[in-house]
Amino acid sequence: MAIDIKSNNEIEKMRAAGRLAADVIDMIGPYVKAGISTEELDKICHNYIVDVQKAVPAPLNYHGFPKSICTSINNVVCHGIPGDKKLKKGDIVNIDITVIKDGFHGDTSKMFIIGKANIKAQRICRIAQECLYIGIKKVKPGVRLGEVGKAIGAHADKNNCSVVHDYCGHGIGRNFHAEPQVVHYDDGKLNSGPILEAGMTFTIEPMVNIGGYEVATSRVDGWTVTTKDRSLSAQWEHTILVTKDGYEILTLREEETV
Ligand code: MF3
Ligand code: CO
Ligand code: CO
Repeated sequence: MAIDIKSNNEIEKMRAAGRLAADVIDMIGPYVKAGISTEELDKICHNYIVDVQKAVPAPLNYHGFPKSICTSINNVVCHGIPGDKKLKKGDIVNIDITVIKDGFHGDTSKMFIIGKANIKAQRICRIAQECLYIGIKKVKPGVRLGEVGKAIGAHADKNNCSVVHDYCGHGIGRNFHAEPQVVHYDDGKLNSGPILEAGMTFTIEPMVNIGGYEVATSRVDGWTVTTKDRSLSAQWEHTILVTKDGYEILTLREEETV
């Protein structure tokens, strides 16, 4: 059960895939406004990935997922299916993009605030992003992967938020989801997770709730994950490469300063 170490050639392909995924987030940003349906956002992203990027939207038909992107609004934690529901002022929505280019995956997501969200909504979005960045900064050869989750969990705790346990980050490359599993909380183990080595690629994608950490999956569509207590949830995701002296964020956007 070894974790794949990418060759220089594979790393170049991961960079290309990561760049494209980040570009989709930048492209769709101006459309993410009150009145648009998540289905329309899906269509715009799908066409851009296929026609402009000459790439493949990884979610489409992945274990039967019916759309090309995930759109998760308010109390939806992840895996929201785009549909005819329109975004409205005050909503917070996660858009999660995964593209396949030249056989390799890039996976990234961002929270968008529609109009002016209330203070609580803004806060959960900010804390979830801080959790992602704090986790990323732990990445370095020789460090145990568990340190990433411990740091993320501590930041959420400190801010009276909870981190979802049931969904994790993941190794990524030729496969969408591979080893290692990247947990975003302190699992209580002394030596948790593998020791990181240069050339590993994985995602970090904490889902952070205002209320409890428990989630439930829709019995109607089999995908949509919501918070059990209906509290707001936020998530941000990047695809990360372990480099010889730290990390490289393969899905970094120009607007970001980590
Ligand atoms: N992009 C999600 C992740 O970060 C996975 C979506 S799987 C899908 O791992 F089938 F829902 F698209
Ligand atoms: Co992911
Ligand atoms: Co994703």
